[in-house]
Amino acid sequence: MADLDGIIANKDKDYGIGVPVANQNFFLKGSDNLDWGMKNRLSRIFNPETGRAVMLAFDHGYIMGPTSGLERLDLSIVPLIPYADSIMCTRGALRAVVPAAMDKGICLRYSAGSTMLTELNNECTIDINDAIRMNVSTMAVMVSIGGTYEAKTIENLVRTADMGYKYGIPSMGVTAVGTQMARDARYFALAARVCAENGANIVKTYYTEDDFAKVINACPVPIVIAGGKKLEEKAALELCYKAINEGAAGVDMGRNVFQSANPVAMIQAVNAVVHKNFTPDQGFEMFNDLSK
Ligand code: R5P
Repeated sequence: MADLDGIIANKDKDYGIGVPVANQNFFLKGSDNLDWGMKNRLSRIFNPETGRAVMLAFDHGYIMGPTSGLERLDLSIVPLIPYADSIMCTRGALRAVVPAAMDKGICLRYSAGSTMLTELNNECTIDINDAIRMNVSTMAVMVSIGGTYEAKTIENLVRTADMGYKYGIPSMGVTAVGTQMARDARYFALAARVCAENGANIVKTYYTEDDFAKVINACPVPIVIAGGKKLEEKAALELCYKAINEGAAGVDMGRNVFQSANPVAMIQAVNAVVHKNFTPDQGFEMFNDLSK
């Protein structure tokens, strides 16, 4: 019922007279002009306290089938979710395996269409209604710059971004690497920039030993790096450390976590490097301590 007393006895109300309303600058690069829903969802991918992200990627099955370490997602992946800021997966895995009560961001693998047995990147996109139904925080689309399906994959990103802006769901451009492409900063700077210019709110790419800062600086939106093939744990933590310290806003890591000798320890060590500025040595020590 309406509280008339509150209106009448208004001498105790605090209108904050003399206190200016603070401007709210959003914490992510290139995201200040986005709508509230976009920013809220980005805050489920990137931790607002550090501005960084630990994304647990386990979407590999959509092109590779039962990848090593992902044979039983319920056993291998679900125990890792508490240590990530968000998960990256297909809608199949999400519905079949991920507990709906979990409170992490969801990066949905939003494009699909071919497997490693044929030619990759000949993809279509999912219906936006399904992304909305699953309450996803971002939609990831493969973009194959310089590849056979360049135009098609860029169109996939453009259409995804159109839908994303309509419904307040960010898009992530995932830079595919063709077999004949050089994995250097020049290539990834081009690919990342093309994704951002075409509407991606996040870009996922690979770390380059040389000139990675140029890839970062040439991209107007946050970049997260993929982990790539399994490395020794210490080397994987070094990769995270270098990427973050050269400007990446996070890691979207799969095989170096779930194929680790101790995935639960590894994701905690990765988290400490990303969010707590642990050095690779400190992270590896943490990994070893947690593995005892
Ligand atoms: C790439 O597009 C895949 O879908 C994975 O999500 C990505 O490569 C990250 O996984 P990994 O760290 O194993 O490379």
